[in-house]
Amino acid sequence: MHVQTRIDDGHIACVHRRSQPEPCPMFQFMRWLGGGRFGDIHLGRRLKDAKEIVLKLKIEHVIYSILHNRKNKKLDHFPFFHRFEHSVNLNYTEYRDGKSLDSGMDKFNFLAIERLGPDCSKLLDHAKQQELYKKNSHPNQEFNRGLSYTTVVEVGEQLFSALKYMHEKEIIHRDIKPQNILAGRGKDRIRNIFLVDFGVAKRFKEEGKFMKDGIGTRVGSAHYHSINLMYDDASVRDDCISAIYVLVELYKSKLWWEHLHPNNEDEEMCEMKTEYLDEDKWADEFPELVPLCKVLVELHITLFDEMPPYALIKTTFDEMKTSKFYKDQQLDWLIEENGFKKLW
Ligand SMILES: Nc1ncnc2c1ncn2[C@@H]1O[C@H](COP(=O)(O)OP(=O)(O)O)[C@@H](O)[C@H]1O
Ligand SMILES: [Mg+2]
Repeated sequence: MHVQTRIDDGHIACVHRRSQPEPCPMFQFMRWLGGGRFGDIHLGRRLKDAKEIVLKLKIEHVIYSILHNRKNKKLDHFPFFHRFEHSVNLNYTEYRDGKSLDSGMDKFNFLAIERLGPDCSKLLDHAKQQELYKKNSHPNQEFNRGLSYTTVVEVGEQLFSALKYMHEKEIIHRDIKPQNILAGRGKDRIRNIFLVDFGVAKRFKEEGKFMKDGIGTRVGSAHYHSINLMYDDASVRDDCISAIYVLVELYKSKLWWEHLHPNNEDEEMCEMKTEYLDEDKWADEFPELVPLCKVLVELHITLFDEMPPYALIKTTFDEMKTSKFYKDQQLDWLIEENGFKKLW
């Protein structure tokens, strides 16, 4: 049976700061939000101003250290807030089937991050449940049954901008999927998209060269895997291929291969992914997304040790914004009648 370790609600985390001889109280754990593969997510509070934050446990520091740079103003794409060099003593309780078994104190690594809004999978679920495509009269209702064209273009543009920044820092994410792409929170951030969960991210260069280690090649979720992963290590291009699949899913409401089981349909899924490298197939469903298919094709001829065609990607989104379907910055969740509010 599965034993869960959770930090006690109300526990105050004392953090060692360079300027202070003793660890000082900085954050309070408020409520357990969810448990993932790599660590639990808790709602917390920053003590100095009672600001709500999210505390993620058991994180690896290396990747976050590379991305985290307070001086960098471009960090809008990543919800960083505070990372710790050292582990911190925290009170925990172990549970089995909701019953507490044991409790104690141990050292934990955690990351304090900005509290964000819902992830794209929750946004899409809401759009499907509410049949927004009917309510908002999507122009192409047979095939655009998820989020609106404008929303998908906005999400895509920001997502690729985050990927570019991360790739320039020599990191690949390897788990690009709707659950790891979150909307922001609050007046200033609600239009922003953030990339989270660097649980399987890794550095892809060593001494300026692209690395192949063959280890853990196929981490992440098979539905979003690029077909390159059938025979090669993951590279920068593969994050971008997954990102295009995410955009298709957000628009269409499902992936073409959604009915295939992610664990044992390798070949069939791979065949379908190859079939959808054909612009005509996209044009049959949504000609307005054909520019994204062109990017997808380009990404499939990008070599393992080449950077993705970011210049093309930028012009693609610029072009998509000139479409008659694009309504200036009208994200679905900003439109009151769409009822997204309860997700925040
Ligand atoms: N900063 C955050 N604010 C709000 N929700 C978050 C935040 N970070 C993660 N979440 C939610 O928790 C889920 C799991 O977090 P994630 O970092 O992806 O961990 P893992 O997938 O390893 O469990 C996300 O899909 C998202 O719904
Ligand atoms: Mg995740």
